[in-house]
This record gives sequence, C-alpha cells and structure tokens, in this order.
Amino acid sequence: MKIAVIGTGYVGITTSVSLGELGHELIGVDIDPEKVKKLKQGILPIYEPGVESLIQRQLAAGSLTFTTSLKEALPDAEVIFIAVGTPSLPNGEPDLHYVEAVAREIGTHINDYKVIVNKSTVPVGTADWVRDLIERELERRHVKVEFDVVSNPEFLQEGKALEDARHPDRIVLGSSSQRAKQTMQTVYANVNAPIIHTSPRNAEMIKYASNAILATKISFMNDIAKLCAHLSVDVSEVAKGMGLDQRIGPHFLRAGVGYGGSCFPKDVEALYALGQSAGQEMSILRDTQRINREQPGWVIAQMERELGSLKGKKIALLGLAFKPNTDDLREAPSLKLLPLLHAAGATVRATDPIVTDPVKEQFPKVGIAADAYEAALDADAVLLCTEWASFLKIDWKRIRERMKGDRVFDARNALSIEKVEAAGLRYWGVGRKGSA
Ligand SMILES: NC(=O)c1ccc[n+]([C@@H]2O[C@H](COP(=O)([O-])OP(=O)(O)OC[C@H]3O[C@@H](n4cnc5c(N)ncnc54)[C@H](O)[C@@H]3O)[C@@H](O)[C@H]2O)c1
Repeated sequence: MKIAVIGTGYVGITTSVSLGELGHELIGVDIDPEKVKKLKQGILPIYEPGVESLIQRQLAAGSLTFTTSLKEALPDAEVIFIAVGTPSLPNGEPDLHYVEAVAREIGTHINDYKVIVNKSTVPVGTADWVRDLIERELERRHVKVEFDVVSNPEFLQEGKALEDARHPDRIVLGSSSQRAKQTMQTVYANVNAPIIHTSPRNAEMIKYASNAILATKISFMNDIAKLCAHLSVDVSEVAKGMGLDQRIGPHFLRAGVGYGGSCFPKDVEALYALGQSAGQEMSILRDTQRINREQPGWVIAQMERELGSLKGKKIALLGLAFKPNTDDLREAPSLKLLPLLHAAGATVRATDPIVTDPVKEQFPKVGIAADAYEAALDADAVLLCTEWASFLKIDWKRIRERMKGDRVFDARNALSIEKVEAAGLRYWGVGRKGSA
C-alpha cells in the first residue's frame, strides 16, 4: 500500500519506518528542508534508538522516500497520515495551525479517494473540522473528490518508540466510514494488537484521557512520596507493593522530579482547557498540573535543607533530556532545575549522553562535562535528573574519590541506595531514605 506521512518528527518518522517494515511504500513529507535533506541521506535528525538503520535500509530498498512537497507526495498515496505538532497555546489549548495548514493543502491537491488519518494529538471534534477544511478547499476548486478522515491517535513513548510502534497495546481507529475502516485494517494487517473501532470523537478522547491518567499517576505518587518523606516510609517499597495489585499495575508509579516531554504537560493542559470550554471543572487535572509544576522546587528545597544552603555549592547534574534514550528537551525537568539551582547560588556542571548543546545555549553559565566522573570533580553533591542506563551503572567509589562533598540526590528514585552508600556517599531520594 502507498502511504504518505506528513510531519517527520518523533511520531512521523517512527510511523513511517514501522509501516515500511510491514511492507508498505512510504513517502515522508516535512516543511523543514534541513530535516528532509538529512533524512534523504539516511541521517536521523533526532535521537531515537533503532530508527536510523531502518531509514537507511528502506531508502536503499527504494521503499521509503522523503520530500518537502505535499503536492508531489499526494497523488500516489492511498492513505495520508498527519503527524504534525500540536503544541500548547498560552491559554493551554492546543495550537492547531499546523494541522489546519496540512488539511487545507490536502484539499488543494487531492484528486481521487484518500483516507486521511490523524495521528497528531488533537481535541475532540478535530476530525470533523479537518473534514470541513478539506471540503471547503474542494468546493473552492469546484471539484468533487471522495475522502474519509480517521482518528488514529499515537501512543508511542520516545526512547522506545520503535518497540511501541511494532508492538502497540492497542490500535485505536476512530471512523464512521466502512471503506476507511477496511483500508485501515489493511494498513495494520500485520500488527498483532487489538484494534478498537470507534467514532473519531471517542478516539480523540481516548488519547487525551490516556495521557492524563498517566500524568495523574505520576503526580499522585509524587504527593504520596512527600508524605512518605515525613513518615520515614520508602515510597519505592510502597510503589512496589501497590503495583503488584493488577487493578493498579506497576507502571508510572515512580516518584521523582515530575513529568516533562512534549506530551504529558501539553495534553493535560489541553484536556483541562477542553473541560473549561465545556463548563466542566477538571479539578483532578488542575492538581496534577500543580503538583508537577511544584515538584522541581520541592526537590531544590530538600537539597537546601540537606546541604544547609546551595550558595556557592558545586552541583554535578546527571541527565538533561526529559527522559532516557531521547534527545528531546521539551518541558524537561532539567530546564526547571537549572534556573532554580542558579537562583539559589549553586554552580552546575551537567552531563548527558546525548543532549548538551541546546542547554549550553539556553544556560551559558552551565558547565558541560563529558561524563558523570568529570561532572563530579570537586562537586559538593550529585543530582540525578534523568535515569540514563549509563548513570545507573556508575562506579560510585570513583565518583566519591573525585567529589569534595558526599551527597547524592536521586531525583528519579532510580539508583541503588546500597551501591551509593557502599561507596561512602550519603543518599537522598524522593520519599526514600534521607528525605524528611
Ligand atoms: N513525541 C511523542 O512522544 C508523541 C507521542 C504520541 C503522540 N504525539 C503527538 O504527535 C504529534 C507530533 O508530535 P512529534 O513529537 O512527532 O512532533 P515534532 O515536533 O517532533 O514533529 C512535527 C513535524 O511536523 C513538521 N511539520 C509542521 N508543519 C508541517 C506541514 N505543514 N507539512 C509538513 N510537515 C510539517 C515539523 O517540521 C516537524 O518536523 C503531536 O500532536 C504530539 O502530541 C507525540
């Protein structure tokens, strides 16, 4: 099947190569000429494990191509995926102008039946709105072309996007057209996952509600962690005990410095804004956001309490990306910790296996180290912000020898207390040992 994917960001490029693996012929479209130039050379402009080698293989096989021209991509495509960004507007609502531009352009160029599939995360009613936009363009051209709009939200997680795309927990297809439903079944014929056939509006809500519950689990555990800190209870043990209950499940129960990334913060905001516009006060979401906003400040306050003051202290910050295995810095907790550390008078030497340059540009005062050992040189304290695998394998004795102080702040509850303490260091975690 010939498929066009519009937008070659984290979602678009992963969608393209994973559909390519299923035997489809793909064309990726992006308005960013630099991105397209790199992709044509087999260079992945982002960091996402496993994706670059698939691009190279599929380019060589001729089953994957890239272009900046939607007009060029559309004629042959039977299915057109929209995977452009939907960032937050200042009022919390999603900015749909990228989706709008793509819909209008599709209406300007299509000449035969197409299934238009929205993968971007969008508010309830967007599929209908996209249909209207395309219809208006067709009317303006005085042509009649059949098409269907399907809502097919994406649930992949950056850092393991390929794995998620290959083995999704479920595929949600929101469509009111039998013809489009059959086409989409062919698209996903070789994926072993339950398919939920529903309306486009239901599909759009499934995506927002899914991200909102995951974000809420994180904020809930961060609140529990703060209570644990007062009561000398270890929240990691609590999470383990809770997670074995099948009604709760083990995922997204780890307390830490809060969630970040390009999805949870904006999607919780968007769902809250949707509630506001419908006159429905989504108070759980308001608290989910508030707890998340406050969490980096709480971590810094704990560090100040433990160290007396942060004034003049040297902090080794481990991890900048919003989570491991990605270069994505959107809403990364590190970007919230850095100004707080600076405001408290600390100097910071940071390290990350992948992403450093954009942080250096934004915070010129931050020193960048090649690795954790260099970052720890003369440091009063180490602060773990992103739990990259390399940080979990650190030789803490080597770190201890290089440090001036002896404190390790684990803002992700990811380190082994025993290993840190065996090196003669003092451990602090979020609602774990050391917290009070
Ligand atoms: N990143 C994730 O983990 C993730 C997971 C699930 C869902 N989503 C959703 O998927 C959507 C895309 O997210 P992303 O992280 O891939 O975004 P992104 O910012 O990485 O990529 C979006 C791409 O769209 C391109 N683009 C914008 N306008 C265009 C146009 N008119 N024509 C062609 N290309 C255009 C941009 O140049 C960019 O490369 C968002 O709605 C997001 O909420 C993201």
